[in-house]
Amino acid sequence: MNVFINKNIPEAGILLLQEKGINLTINPTEKILSRNEFIAICKKNDALLNVGTNNFDEDFFEQCPNLKGIALFSVGFDYVNIPSANSRKIPIGNTPDVLSRATSDIAFLLIQSVARKSFFNHKRILDGKWGSFDALANLGQELYGKTLGIFGLGRIGFEMAKKCKAAFGMNIIYHNRSRNENAEKELNAKFVDFETLLAESDILSIHSNYSAENNELFNKNTFAKMKSNSIFINTARGKFHNEEDLFYALTNNIIWGAGLDVTNPEPMLQNNPLLSLPNCCILPHIGSATYEARNAMAVCAAQNIIALFENKKMPFCVNEEVYN
Ligand code: DGY
Repeated sequence: MNVFINKNIPEAGILLLQEKGINLTINPTEKILSRNEFIAICKKNDALLNVGTNNFDEDFFEQCPNLKGIALFSVGFDYVNIPSANSRKIPIGNTPDVLSRATSDIAFLLIQSVARKSFFNHKRILDGKWGSFDALANLGQELYGKTLGIFGLGRIGFEMAKKCKAAFGMNIIYHNRSRNENAEKELNAKFVDFETLLAESDILSIHSNYSAENNELFNKNTFAKMKSNSIFINTARGKFHNEEDLFYALTNNIIWGAGLDVTNPEPMLQNNPLLSLPNCCILPHIGSATYEARNAMAVCAAQNIIALFENKKMPFCVNEEVYN
């Protein structure tokens, strides 16, 4: 079996694949392949281990009829047209669980960074604006006893809720498609409708899978329903929020601050006005960027490819229906 890996991954995954005698082509260049170049190589391979959010649409699957499976190096699979994969019986693997702690760590870091304006204060030093002690300047807010609202309480949301409860005694509310009984039992999390989530959250953090029905769900109308001292956190996907509306909300005291690890588009343009705001902290999509998480992701992705090679079910498959 010939497998294409479009960008290098941690060695733990490569070694597993090599031990099985799988023939690997690893994109040796730092160069991002054009869509045509990418498809041309995928056509010649039996499987793909994909790093990054290439668009796997109907056209891609049509052009790559020999592809027998794709192992994504991500937990999110919003960039794959699942019905197109299903109609060709192509299993799609992902890397669940192993990045939940790392990603929720970044959301937790962003809450505190926003609450204490830490990026802005660091920039004051760089700009030579430290100045003398001022009892009234650069004040943040404390997080003790606040209400954390989670949009999408799955594995990452659960880790986030656990941290916020343990560190700050936060009260947890959440909105989900289905109830999370574990979180209700362990963390006393309360299920609420979307309007209540907006109205009652002091911190609103997104931890849901992105799908088109949630495109720009956080916009002028929804920000207007949030508390004026609230903090908006998005570590899931940039398409969940409208960036112009977020800028408006942050500059008109509609909400208090925002922390983003994801933007739309990515990379964010250097002149994006959100980057200049004192109440906005932005990171370049580093949620899963720890040695531990990335090694484990490499192993999950390799295990998915190996299962394909051995004619078994992928252990982490997002469209198990292809096996029916
Ligand atoms: C994921 O795993 O989905 C992360 O966002 C990286 O893309």
